[in-house]
Amino acid sequence: MMDTVQLDKTKHDRSRFDCGIVALNNYLKVMASQQAKKDNTRTFVLEDKQCPEHIIGFYTLTMTAINLPDLPGKLQKKHHSVTSGGLIARLTIDHRYKGQGFGEWLLVDALKKLLIASETIAFPIVIVDAKEGAANFYEKYGFTSFKDADNKLFITIADIRASIGELIY
Ligand SMILES: CC(C)(COP(=O)(O)OP(=O)(O)OC[C@H]1O[C@@H](n2cnc3c(N)ncnc32)[C@H](O)[C@@H]1OP(=O)(O)O)[C@@H](O)C(=O)NCCC(=O)NCCS
Repeated sequence: MMDTVQLDKTKHDRSRFDCGIVALNNYLKVMASQQAKKDNTRTFVLEDKQCPEHIIGFYTLTMTAINLPDLPGKLQKKHHSVTSGGLIARLTIDHRYKGQGFGEWLLVDALKKLLIASETIAFPIVIVDAKEGAANFYEKYGFTSFKDADNKLFITIADIRASIGELIY
């Protein structure tokens, strides 16, 4: 069974990781561990079972401000006093492991964690910052693009619960 674990710089080979996007590689190398230590973000990695120090992919979760006027009218009304949402700040797969279903698996794993967190601290929206070219990947899983920001998408917790809730309850 696959599972994600929190990034452990004493175990995981961060310098080997290469998703083809320098900013994401560098985040893993120099920022992720420090940011987790400061409780600013959490980074979860999927290890290669054959060699657990090798990272197949990772994602980073935190919270973000929600600008209500950016949401469709119906959602603005429903969530009128909400100011923050969950954020998938980064999600990426090492190029050696792309196209094998790991991206989909990692996204579902991130959404499960966000759904579980929302049961305790209640936020109605999850946002993702997609790198260029990846927005279509998120749309495939029910995310909607913000009007004026091509690389920023959202999905409601209600939609996440409807699609993967049975996996965790
Ligand atoms: C986007 C990303 C997470 C997908 O990971 P992956 O492991 O290769 O994807 P999967 O094998 O799980 O693919 C799942 C589905 O998403 C589709 N998909 C994968 N990447 C996609 C993309 N960029 N846009 C649209 N759909 C995509 C696959 O075709 C597959 O669909 P199918 O089940 O109908 O065949 C991965 O490519 C990544 O890390 N990207 C980094 C960001 C990036 O590369 N951006 C583009 C740079 S130019």
